[in-house]
Amino acid sequence: MMGHVVTLDPVDFQAWLRARVGQVEDTLEQTLPAANLLPGRLHEAMRYAVLGGGKRIRAALVYAAGEASLQAGVAAPPAQQIALDHAAAAVELVHAYSLVHDDLPCMDDDTLRRGRPTVHVQFDEATAMLAGDALQPLAFEALASMPIAPALVVQAIQLLAGAIGSQGMVGGQAIDCDSVGRVLAQDDLQQMHRMKTGALLEASVLLGGIVAGASSNTREGLTRYAAAIGLAFQIADDILDVTADTATLGKTAGKDAAENKPTYVSTLGLEGSRQLLQELREEARAALLPLGPSAASLSCLADFIVGRDR
Ligand code: IPE
Ligand code: IPE
Ligand code: MG
Ligand code: MG
Ligand code: MG
Repeated sequence: MMGHVVTLDPVDFQAWLRARVGQVEDTLEQTLPAANLLPGRLHEAMRYAVLGGGKRIRAALVYAAGEASLQAGVAAPPAQQIALDHAAAAVELVHAYSLVHDDLPCMDDDTLRRGRPTVHVQFDEATAMLAGDALQPLAFEALASMPIAPALVVQAIQLLAGAIGSQGMVGGQAIDCDSVGRVLAQDDLQQMHRMKTGALLEASVLLGGIVAGASSNTREGLTRYAAAIGLAFQIADDILDVTADTATLGKTAGKDAAENKPTYVSTLGLEGSRQLLQELREEARAALLPLGPSAASLSCLADFIVGRDR
């Protein structure tokens, strides 16, 4: 008989998520250079890119994977808690940098992000490029200063670096740029999505596991879970681009079709994409089974990723 994954009451999950969002936003606030430090305009743009919006799903995944690596009801020791804050901030810094560059005129050419003008519109193109550039090393500084065993710090740095380079996020973005106006086979589309979006989400989950000292069994479950939700996230993004409106999304709806991007919706249609999304949600659920009740928040996050409206 299959067991089932323990989940949280929706109200408890909302409260859990709000608390984690608050925690990472406090950490980001402390990590980002103040706008009165030289060069002020660059720091202002970095703060604009990172603070004031965003669902903070990658940060939440770090915290939830940390919880899943401990016994249910056992809190992380204080140093581990600080390290989780650093890791959560690191993935949000990288994510924010990727959005700033993704929105540039030479890439997706978007003017709206998180309900506000994109960084190159609010500031200028060179500042946007440099703000993105500067957010990246800041993320690695946050990881390097985690107060945990140095061997784990090195593992964390290696993991994030691998996930966001030419064989991960940036590689996926390169394939995305090359694919405009082309029809991609489903395998190639999956590869692109796993790289451009899945890799950083997977790294977020695994970072939580590394920091919390997950056992190899737990890491196995986390890896399987992360692969499923990583792909699911970009499929949901492709669906929302078609079904949601600009005001709800906080970014321009209908942009993929307008720019002739191959997406899951253009390849499988809306129904096919929705069905695949449910299959991946089931796959994520199955991966969490061996982890027991401490994986409850990870399970809720999978529901959130699949069912979100923005
Ligand atoms: C949007 O990510 C970009 C993708 C990788 C699909 P999110 O939907 O997580 O964006 P924010 O952080 O909530 O704004
Ligand atoms: C973004 O994918 C992926 C990265 C930023 C790495 P999209 O281009 O689909 O994201 P949105 O829709 O602009 O948020
Ligand atoms: Mg893009
Ligand atoms: Mg885009
Ligand atoms: Mg999109």
